[in-house]
Parts: sequence; structure tokens; C-alpha cells
Amino acid sequence: MRGQLINDRVIDDRLIHDRQINDARQHLIVALDVSSAAAARTIVAAVGESARTYKVGMQLFTAEGPQIVRELVASGRSIFLDLKYHDIPTTVASSVREAAKLDVSMLTVHASGGSKMLRAAVEVARSINPELMVLGVTVLTSMDEADLEEAGARDKILDQVLRLADLAIRSGCQGIVTSARETAQVRSRLGHKFAIVNPGIRPTGADRGDQSRVVTPAEAIAAGATHIVVGRPITEAANPAAEAEKILQEMGAVGAAR
Ligand code: C5P
Repeated sequence: MRGQLINDRVIDDRLIHDRQINDARQHLIVALDVSSAAAARTIVAAVGESARTYKVGMQLFTAEGPQIVRELVASGRSIFLDLKYHDIPTTVASSVREAAKLDVSMLTVHASGGSKMLRAAVEVARSINPELMVLGVTVLTSMDEADLEEAGARDKILDQVLRLADLAIRSGCQGIVTSARETAQVRSRLGHKFAIVNPGIRPTGADRGDQSRVVTPAEAIAAGATHIVVGRPITEAANPAAEAEKILQEMGAVGAAR
């Protein structure tokens, strides 16, 4: 039996491997970017036990409303409600209250909404479900420096990401959403006591298409991400479960190397 010495016990390598894959499973989020509950159900069924957490964003929520969230939560899935709230503090707090009542596990607010809005969101989330993770969205991965300047931000992308990440964390958010490209810098400047969710992930060997800013699952985890969001590479795969398992292997291998 090949194994490793952990706490004075020899642990079978297969068990270690299984545990790493299970750990990875807690940190893989599959994006349900579809327009109907039926399409969402088809994806969830095809992914099976390979993922536990699903991202419901504006598209599916606008089409189907909260019922699809209730249904997925009732079936034992965790929901990342990605509606990127950005409004006056009272309105955001009221919306977060409704989201918390749906029993979602994670939700997003725009960090650029400012500390009053962020604190209001965090406070109300905590009062209903202390486990609910409020994540501050930093800079959208679709934005480049010209877009930032057009919107009035004079910083480079990295500086703007760091500024908004710092604001979100100081305001009580349990984590941030940012591109994997800025993740290592965020970790080295702001520490390790918060979650970082990376979208724009493409598995090794996948067609990167027109997306030049995407990274692999291994690169994202190595940079310091705690969670990755993967949509089309899994949802449009011929075998979504196999694709998800491949991604878990990649994530687990990095965990093992740490
Ligand atoms: O591209 P993919 O289908 O994996 O996208 C999944 C989710 O990640 C989308 O819902 C989108 O919100 C986010 N995304 C992003 N930046 C990218 C690509 C995707 O924020 N470059």
C-alpha cells in the first residue's frame, strides 16, 4: 500500500486522492446560464454528483424567478445567486433579505456600490443566515482599461481590483469575485482570510475561443482562488459529468501540491 504519514498514521494514497477530489467538489461552481427551468434541470441531472454548487445569474432568474432557486435548494444543491446587486443600501439590504430567505449559499453585490451598501448587505445576510457568503464583485472580466476610464476610474485594472477588494473585505464581505489574472496579487496584498471566486475558467486543452483572459482551473487555484465558476465547458460538453470530474482532478492536483 502506498501512503503518506499524516498525524503519525499512514494514510492510503487513494483515500488522500478521494479527499482532495471531494474538497475540490466543494469549490467548483457550475454556471446555469440558460433561459428555462427545464434547461437548468437537464444540466443539473447531467452533472450528477460531480458538482454541488450552481450559479443562478440574471438570465435564469429573470426568466424563471425564485422558484428554480427553491427547487434546486430543496434537491440538496447549493446556490450561488449571482445578481450583482448595486443600488441604494436600503434596496440592496431588502433584496439580500429575500435572497437569504431562499437559503442561497453565496450571493454577489457590486463592491463599487460603496461601504454603506456593502455593510447593509452583510448585516442583513448575517442576521438571517450567518453562513451566507456575501461576495463583492470587483472589476468585471469583460472590462479593459479603456472601459474603466470611460466609466470614470483612473486606476489601472489591478489597482482598481485591489481598491474594490479591500473595500469589500473591510466592509465585512466574506469574499470577492475577480479574474484569476489579478488573484495572486490580491492574495499577496490582502491576505488569505477571505474567499476568491474566479470566473472565466477553461479546462486544460479546451478551446479558448475568443477569450484571451481565461485561465485553467489549476492556474486559478494555484493563484489563490478558493472557488471557480465554470459554465459552457461543462454545460455544453457531450458528457458534463466527465468534464466536471476532469476539472476536479485538476483542482485536486494543485491542492495536493500545496
Ligand atoms: O464562460 P463560461 O460559460 O464558463 O461563464 C460562466 C460564468 O462566468 C458566466 O455566467 C459569467 O458570469 C462568468 N464569466 C466572467 N468572465 C468571463 C467568462 C465568464 O465573469 N471572461
